Amino acid sequence: MVAMCRRYALYVLSLAFPFFAVAAAQQTTLLVDVDHRPQVSLDGPWHFIADPYRDGWGGNPDHASLRGYAQNAHYVPGGPLVQYDFSRSPTLDVPGDWNSQKDSLFYYEGLLWYQRDFTWHSKPHTHLFLHFGAVNYAASIFVNDVHVCDHEGGFTPFDCDISSVVKDGDNFIVAAVDDTRAVDRVPTIKTDWWNYGGITRPVSLVEVPDAYIDDYSLQLRRGTSDQLDGYVHVVGADAGTRVALRIPELHIEQSAVTDTNGRAAFSFTAPGLELWSPEHPRLYKIDLQAGPDRLSDDIGFRTIEVQGDQILLNGKPIFLRGVSFHDEAPTRAGRAWSDQDAQTLLGWAHELDCNFVRMAHYPHTENEYRLADKLGIMVWSEVPVYWNIDWTDPHTLAVAKQQLSEMIRRDHNHAAVVLWSLSNETPESPARDAFLHQLAVEARSEDPTRLITSAIVTHLHGTTAALDDPLGNDLDVLGYNEYLGWYQGSPSDIPNYTWQNPMGKPVIVSEFGAGAKAGLHGPDTQMFTEEYQDRVFRQQFLMLQKIPFLRGMTPWVLMDFRSPMRQLPGIQDDFNRKGLVSDKGEKKKAFFTLQDYYAHMQQ
Ligand code: GCU
Repeated sequence: MVAMCRRYALYVLSLAFPFFAVAAAQQTTLLVDVDHRPQVSLDGPWHFIADPYRDGWGGNPDHASLRGYAQNAHYVPGGPLVQYDFSRSPTLDVPGDWNSQKDSLFYYEGLLWYQRDFTWHSKPHTHLFLHFGAVNYAASIFVNDVHVCDHEGGFTPFDCDISSVVKDGDNFIVAAVDDTRAVDRVPTIKTDWWNYGGITRPVSLVEVPDAYIDDYSLQLRRGTSDQLDGYVHVVGADAGTRVALRIPELHIEQSAVTDTNGRAAFSFTAPGLELWSPEHPRLYKIDLQAGPDRLSDDIGFRTIEVQGDQILLNGKPIFLRGVSFHDEAPTRAGRAWSDQDAQTLLGWAHELDCNFVRMAHYPHTENEYRLADKLGIMVWSEVPVYWNIDWTDPHTLAVAKQQLSEMIRRDHNHAAVVLWSLSNETPESPARDAFLHQLAVEARSEDPTRLITSAIVTHLHGTTAALDDPLGNDLDVLGYNEYLGWYQGSPSDIPNYTWQNPMGKPVIVSEFGAGAKAGLHGPDTQMFTEEYQDRVFRQQFLMLQKIPFLRGMTPWVLMDFRSPMRQLPGIQDDFNRKGLVSDKGEKKKAFFTLQDYYAHMQQ
């Protein structure tokens, strides 16, 4: 990991620093449950400079003014040559993508520099981390003109230890953010969603003691209803450091000691434990302590497993009544990040009587997972290995593994998460199978308590849907996307299709749907009317309810979302219109049809 980060840091700098040698940045870490730690928020207006010619990475080091934007120089009339000055530059709100904040940046894709000042007073025997909820796509972070860390991947958090560079009093941060799409990135060149660039999730300062808890896990053992197994990992602790774990409501107090790797293992019985489920989303407060460090969390306990072609929650077969959605902000559009965004999006899913959501096509903002824990909505969480990734590039595989590992590490204590998805609609090839096999191995080794899936394109042979993609050999649950009645055939044909399941595994239809502009009405044979979309849903139900091994469905898609691929003026206007709800919050006819279908499924 360190070697990869160092090589990667130099790789980024070599691209942009032709004349400027800098020390490689430190690697980032990821503090689990950071939102339950005391933090100093750095959200708000940050100055920015768009830099399409990448000038900010520095020209001739002898000309200080060209040394690079990280220097945070100021123009002084009559002073030396300075050709940029953050303090005189406009601002962007952080968190938030730049595309939806400034008309001048709506289509901007490239390098953009952020800057803000902050004041700090360090305490002895502490570490200070700079926490980023997410930055799309590649970030290089400087504090007081020192390059502290780099991160690649637009949807997972990272933490930079800035203890050695922060000063007592005034400090400044400069962040170079580059959202240029590239063949070797994850996702790659083409996606059916807007490439929202920027510091898209909250930023904060997090102070921890010299020895601090950076990761923990506590899970219910499969096949039991009260056996809890887990670990607490402490950085900077000597072997033999005592770690306490408490579940006050269950009157449980456990303790264990760290091994030479800083890991304390726990395994104990929890008499009277109430299991988490959609009907009873029971969460328990847990308290962890290692020396002076304390961390608390609210977690649920449940098991998820497969048995033949069934999915079992807490040992009982369950059907996943779901819906897919992008992390798109309702009404204002742009990248979602706030509690309000989470409440609106998951509120609509709850209104549909969903017990499940597919958070497509990348890890969503963490507050959605926390809310799903509370609402009892199970989650399919996915890395953006989307469409035609560069399967043979080692860097691409390393970045995909890193994003998968970061997603699992951030969210493995959310009971709501039941499925890790490795990919979406990747074209079949031996190179793809080999690439995704490695991700499956990585996911299972990081989290053996959850199920692995992917969304796969359904191959149609006449009116037979064959679920025979070899990728399925690596999966516990098969996700299949199909657009019968929209991209394939007419709505009247849909009920004539039959499905074959040669692998005998549980199947989720992870996408089906049709486009409709909210308020556009007409015959149900006219595409983009609400009536057409509604008919496709009704016809889909006639087919889906005949599939004996169907264990879930996540129609595409909860809400209209922005995409550069959706250009039809007056109908799409840069939005994919397959939403059951428009980007302005207008519920379409099909919303109520799905709601009614799920409601009757209960009876
Ligand atoms: C694909 C893809 C989605 C896309 C959808 C569509 O299946 O997975 O990301 O938005 O189809 O065409 O609307």
